[in-house]
Amino acid sequence: MDIEKVTFSAPGKVILFGEHSVVYGYPAIASAIGLRAKCSINSTSLEKNSISIPNIIPARKFILGNEIPGVLKSLEFIVHHILKKTKNQKKLEMEILSDLPVSAGLGSSAAVSVSVAASLFSILGIEHNLENVNEVAFDAEKIIHGTPSGIDNTISTFGGSIIFEESNIKQIPINLPLSHFIIVNSLVPRNTKDLVYSLRDRYNKDTKKYSQLFEKIGEIVEESQKNLKLGDLERIGDLMNRNHILLDELGVGNKHIKKIVSILNNQKAFGCKLTGAGGGGCVIGLFEDRENINNVIELLHQEGYNAFITDISTQGVRHE
Ligand code: PMV
Repeated sequence: MDIEKVTFSAPGKVILFGEHSVVYGYPAIASAIGLRAKCSINSTSLEKNSISIPNIIPARKFILGNEIPGVLKSLEFIVHHILKKTKNQKKLEMEILSDLPVSAGLGSSAAVSVSVAASLFSILGIEHNLENVNEVAFDAEKIIHGTPSGIDNTISTFGGSIIFEESNIKQIPINLPLSHFIIVNSLVPRNTKDLVYSLRDRYNKDTKKYSQLFEKIGEIVEESQKNLKLGDLERIGDLMNRNHILLDELGVGNKHIKKIVSILNNQKAFGCKLTGAGGGGCVIGLFEDRENINNVIELLHQEGYNAFITDISTQGVRHE
């Protein structure tokens, strides 16, 4: 049967522990969140494939093969890569809608790539599995981020919560029924590739210092895995705080992150840390009581930040 339209969505993510050190082969823990990117594809009678991304570039449809903006290059790569696998000559019209803020450390580009790859495989009737979706999304991430670890596309594809080390993944249980994570977006955009490359420069200049910091973060990740399973909020909070201090020492903090962390600590978070590449972007905080969280969120809004409660361990890529 000829399918004329498909839609797949894929989640963003938070890195709970271990960003940056994961690029150097240490483990990290990530969880899929409630915000998702969605790709809808129609077959069309038009002569060329097209793509629109109205959240980011409103009221424009881009023809693939013509000049397209840089942000769409990775998606063009996915389309070419997957079209090569079929003799199907259908022309496609793609629309991407995303709940995820861009350049904020919540895995927006990976969620878009995963949803596009899954939708394309499906509408073109190409046999595939989640590994195939993950692989092509990883190649697309390399176009955007240079040398990504692969954690963003992996968690977006498979969902849940994972421990990720050297591309090996294991789903892990998180047992935190009486707590809530909030995400605070500093609204300072930043570029993952630049942050990863400048840390690489610092690492090359002082490998001993940075290796020791990565090693310590690696130990925190191992310890947090146990405590996420046990649901020990005090301990998890403490590990988040320690991970944050080490990230700061890596040089990926900024003044807004510092301010948000201080607000969250004053508001009795169990713990908090930047999440993602840093340099702006988002902070996550762990709290016990929902009523208190709403006050905290209000306070953060008054300070000019965007804050919200997030679900974690949500479903990976799915048909809509
Ligand atoms: O800020 P994000 O969502 O791009 O996350 C980057 C996470 C890093 O560990 C800094 C880089 C990576 O590829 O793992």
